[in-house]
Amino acid sequence: MAVSYQDLGFVNTREMFKQAMAGGYAVPAYNFNNMEQLQAIINGCGQSRSPVIIQVSSGARKYANQTMLRYMAEGAVRMARELGYEMPIALHLDHGDTFELCVSCIESGFSSVMIDGSSHPYEKNVELTARVVEYAHRYDVTVEGELGVLAGIEDDVEAAKSIYTDPEQVEDFVRQTGVDSLAISIGTSHGAYKFKPEQCTVNDQGVLVPPPLRFDILEEIERRIPGFPIVLHGSSSVLPKYVEIINNNGGRLEAAVGIPEEQLRQAAKSAVCKINIDSDGRLVMTAIIRKIFNEKPAEFDPRKYLGPAREELTRMIMAKNEKVLGSAGRV
Ligand code: G3H
Ligand code: 13P
Ligand code: ZN
Repeated sequence: MAVSYQDLGFVNTREMFKQAMAGGYAVPAYNFNNMEQLQAIINGCGQSRSPVIIQVSSGARKYANQTMLRYMAEGAVRMARELGYEMPIALHLDHGDTFELCVSCIESGFSSVMIDGSSHPYEKNVELTARVVEYAHRYDVTVEGELGVLAGIEDDVEAAKSIYTDPEQVEDFVRQTGVDSLAISIGTSHGAYKFKPEQCTVNDQGVLVPPPLRFDILEEIERRIPGFPIVLHGSSSVLPKYVEIINNNGGRLEAAVGIPEEQLRQAAKSAVCKINIDSDGRLVMTAIIRKIFNEKPAEFDPRKYLGPAREELTRMIMAKNEKVLGSAGRV
């Protein structure tokens, strides 16, 4: 049975982005696949008084079961309100790849969808995105489109190299499609290995330093579509602290490199209104669980390792909202 996001207590992203643009910060979009991640997102954003976008990939929807996931999301809003958290919460489809998937999410209570047509030729991307927008706007669901391709795995398409967004296309894309926000490619990429070691320099502490994001492209895009909400995908920082815990406890993540926090802070002050973070949450959970398995080999109660992982994820989210996105204390 179809359900509307308004009835579940979600909001779309329109007002969130308006305020983020005016306030010079970005709204965090955290991915979740399970209960502990969702609890950490709600508690972390509730405690730091940050608006939040909880986002679900099609893989997450398959993993958790779409019906289970819809009720988990509804439960998250109810839990937030019971705990006295007043922040706005949007439920967003991450990297939707078909019109039918977007419709299915809208029917199950999503307040925002991404239609990622970036792997298609420009005209097909425009056509697909415009079709989703036309449908979504009937229900006041907001739509994120994408121009440019991030390096790494996106939509099951693996791109060896970033194809930066062409600023010359953005005005036409926004006008023809009617999208509410636009994801762009300026050097970020998905996952924990965002750059090859040979693309990086090494600093005094022996840490790999990636090439800077293409702020020149971002500025040109802002100049062409002033005041239009921009989205950054692939924005995990791959925090060395957690990579180290993983590697010290039997893991093997070699040369994992993310986007430096100060560059994300700079982006958050611009027209970038939404910053997507998934890998950093995965790394925190893995680090804490590995550490506990290593230090307490007799432990077998999932609450004893998932609980501490959830608490650490809550802390990481609060720190990001405060120091990187600037979204803390905005509600
Ligand atoms: O951008 C992709 C997100 O990190 C979701 O990843 O498709 O493995 O759930 P996933
Ligand atoms: P990360 O892999 O950098 O966390 O990016 C997540 C993302 O862009 C989800 O759409
Ligand atoms: Zn993404």
